[in-house]
Amino acid sequence: MHIPSLIERKRDGGQLSAEEIGALITAFTSGDMPEYQMSALAMAIFFRGMDAGETSALTSAMLHSGSVLQWPAGAPLRVDKHSTGGIGDKTSLVLAPLLACDGLWVPMISGRGLGITGGTLDKLESIPGFRTRLDEDEIHDVIREVGCVMVGQTSGICPADKKLYALRDVTGTVPSIPLITASIMSKKLAEGLDRLVLDVKYGSGAFMKTREQADALAKSMVGVGCLLGVRASVRLSAMDEPTGEAAGNALEVAECVRCLKGGGPADLEEIVLDLCVSVSVSDRDTLRGWLHDGTAWQRFQRMVAAQGGDIDALERITEIHDAPCMGELRATTSGIVRRMDAGVIGHVILELGGGRAKADDEIDFAVGCDDIVKTGTEVGFGDPLMRVHARTDEALDAAISRLQDAVTID
Ligand code: URA
Repeated sequence: MHIPSLIERKRDGGQLSAEEIGALITAFTSGDMPEYQMSALAMAIFFRGMDAGETSALTSAMLHSGSVLQWPAGAPLRVDKHSTGGIGDKTSLVLAPLLACDGLWVPMISGRGLGITGGTLDKLESIPGFRTRLDEDEIHDVIREVGCVMVGQTSGICPADKKLYALRDVTGTVPSIPLITASIMSKKLAEGLDRLVLDVKYGSGAFMKTREQADALAKSMVGVGCLLGVRASVRLSAMDEPTGEAAGNALEVAECVRCLKGGGPADLEEIVLDLCVSVSVSDRDTLRGWLHDGTAWQRFQRMVAAQGGDIDALERITEIHDAPCMGELRATTSGIVRRMDAGVIGHVILELGGGRAKADDEIDFAVGCDDIVKTGTEVGFGDPLMRVHARTDEALDAAISRLQDAVTID
């Protein structure tokens, strides 16, 4: 295989065969294909796309770069959801324990922050001691004990996605339908699921900017799922303003804790319930009851403990990750908040250090925004629109100035 010729063929709009795609992924996973060549190929795919056959071959190659979780006969139904990514999208942390309360098994393989969107693994790793890198035996132990487990790709499960995901994050190659499809579906197929719901986002804070693009992404993922053996349902949702009232790793964990105790923002609770009902056995009211009577909160604490996390830290997470500089974005006029732009907020959080610019960058768990006012709220001149948590005064001033562009009030 001559890798430069395959990159050139895709660059010029040609097709790659399933064998060529398989060989490329094998070479990349083993380290024989250097990252600069994979970055170039990802950019060629970004511009030229892939047809359904190539996308399915890419997904299959990435899935088979590692092992598929095997479950004992008679085990509970395995279910999961995956979001295509958004700002303040913290639903996984609430949904996984809630579905486990329903007697289901949720073997969730997630990712880190990608582009402007935050990642489930980064959020979880803000909990002191929490281990997202578990081997297969540990995944089985936690599932048997708790009913849900939240882990990342490893050298044993979806190693190709682990490497490619980190490269795409810092090479401008995230918003590509075939690359997103293969990334998400390889992880979900590796879980050995019975039911999957896909939360496909569109809008300023999502990778797909329009509903039409999101629809095309949904069709691509469902199609690959059908071909490779998992039935998926889809929920398309707008991501023009952040989900909930917080965005930033530790701030989002704090909001999840509130939601798991029944006191979270209404939009977050409703999205979680919408997604849960598509894969659960119980109805919406029963699921909601578990969010309000402490059942889901207890399940979450059990999962955190089983994965090495400090449960006493959960209610103190913003004290543990306490950004030294805090300020408010205030309304410059009175009226109704018509726009609270998730895309602008996502970029600001990246610049504050809440995401990565290079693959080995450390994340600052403490930075971000909370108390974000929802669209439709009436505000007066000078009222706070959100609180910004920053590492330095300069970063805080720059963030507040940029965030003016996120808001429309009239
Ligand atoms: N989530 C993933 O796991 N992969 C993507 O490419 C986008 C969102």
